[in-house]
Amino acid sequence: MKIGLLGLGTVGCGAVEIIQKNQRDIKGKTGTDIQVTKALVRDLNQPRLVPIEGIELTTNPQAVLADPEIDIIVEVMGGVTLAKDYIIQALQNGKYVVTANKDLLAQYGKELFEIASLVKRNIYYEASVGGGIPLIRPFKHCLAANRIKSVMGIINGTTNFILTQMSVAEKEFKDALEEAQAKGFAEQDPSSDLEGRDAAYKLAILSSLAFNSKIDVSKVYTESITKISLRDIMYAKELGFAIKLLAIGEETDAGLSLRVHPTLVPEAHPLATVHNEFNALYLQGDAVGEVMFYGRGAGSLPTGSAVVSDIIDVVRNINHQVDNGILETTFPSKPLVPMEEKVSRFYVRMKATDEHGVFGSVATVFGDEQISLDMILQKRRDFNVAEIVLVTHDVKEAQFNRALCKIQSLVSIRNLSNVIRVLERS
Ligand SMILES: NC(=O)c1ccc[n+]([C@@H]2O[C@H](COP(=O)([O-])OP(=O)(O)OC[C@H]3O[C@@H](n4cnc5c(N)ncnc54)[C@H](OP(=O)(O)O)[C@@H]3O)[C@@H](O)[C@H]2O)c1
Repeated sequence: MKIGLLGLGTVGCGAVEIIQKNQRDIKGKTGTDIQVTKALVRDLNQPRLVPIEGIELTTNPQAVLADPEIDIIVEVMGGVTLAKDYIIQALQNGKYVVTANKDLLAQYGKELFEIASLVKRNIYYEASVGGGIPLIRPFKHCLAANRIKSVMGIINGTTNFILTQMSVAEKEFKDALEEAQAKGFAEQDPSSDLEGRDAAYKLAILSSLAFNSKIDVSKVYTESITKISLRDIMYAKELGFAIKLLAIGEETDAGLSLRVHPTLVPEAHPLATVHNEFNALYLQGDAVGEVMFYGRGAGSLPTGSAVVSDIIDVVRNINHQVDNGILETTFPSKPLVPMEEKVSRFYVRMKATDEHGVFGSVATVFGDEQISLDMILQKRRDFNVAEIVLVTHDVKEAQFNRALCKIQSLVSIRNLSNVIRVLERS
């Protein structure tokens, strides 16, 4: 069976390396020889990370998309507009499609799956979320009996590497980011990772499978990690928490709550121990209970592993004439719970004039809004300035925001340094 690649970069080369190395095992598992015959690239002279004998490189997309010998198109070029166009052409030319492109699927997945269904082909996308960690297939198959109550994960390796370095090596955000870039864990423009957009794309894909709902990714609430300082990391540690960028999807009677934000995670929670570039997804099903997946969420070979496992699935399905189209969610959108309605605990750090009665006035404002406090730290900083750090009990976001406005207007409060949501202890 012949495969055409759209892109031969990090992920494309990983997939080629795995196919070359495990050729015999793959044939054993599928009964079929698979062979990458063509790859679309931008620059024919660019050096490749794998031997490419037998692979014809081209800059002409039609040479791959319209090749009648090719059965499977693997889109690992990234971007949205061209990738979408090429995938549609591939499907219309009768090809099966494998893709690692979360940006594309989160925004145009429904449209693409509908086209695939019309032409009786399918799109496989295990590599789009969690790199080498199996997530898509477990949702579609192994967990299909469950009503999923919640998914919660560290699904962006760049931000997890930065936050881990801030915590373990006590680095400031800027230094941790520079180290992530030097080690290849962060791109030169890391904004999509830092601002939570990358995690939001992945959460949208996972949530559509977990909650059987079409998800509008622009409605996923996102918050950046750039506001986290070393001081927050150290105070969180002192209070018994690690700070992580969590992607959270929950279904309640009121609807779906989908959000990506920095979170104080209790040190005893399994997600608190996920370090550096590693990813993990923790979920709760009504029948299975708690399940956790852990592994490398990016990189050439881990992501290549997911791409090649999709290719093997396609080959088996072609050989056994199985149509998997039914596995894509065709459900309408479920309502989303607005953030103001969400109940959470909050960590608040503020600077105040170091004088008698300041803490009492802060506590009174919270008390007036019926918000009770769980933990309090008061630290003297510089001359005449104290830092107050507190963690609330559960409170509705709207109610909490009202209290914050009042606190900001207190004369003794110099500034509100940071506010971060806190995961409840389970
Ligand atoms: N890297 C990861 O760890 C990872 C993990 C999960 C998912 N993904 C997803 O996998 C996809 C690929 O990522 P990557 O890291 O492998 O990217 P990459 O290293 O930048 O490789 C992209 C490849 O596509 C080719 N390409 C890009 N635009 C093209 C165009 N307009 N026409 C022809 N060829 C084009 C490039 O050609 P040249 O080589 O000639 O420039 C290159 O070979 C993305 O959707 C990404 O989000 C990546």
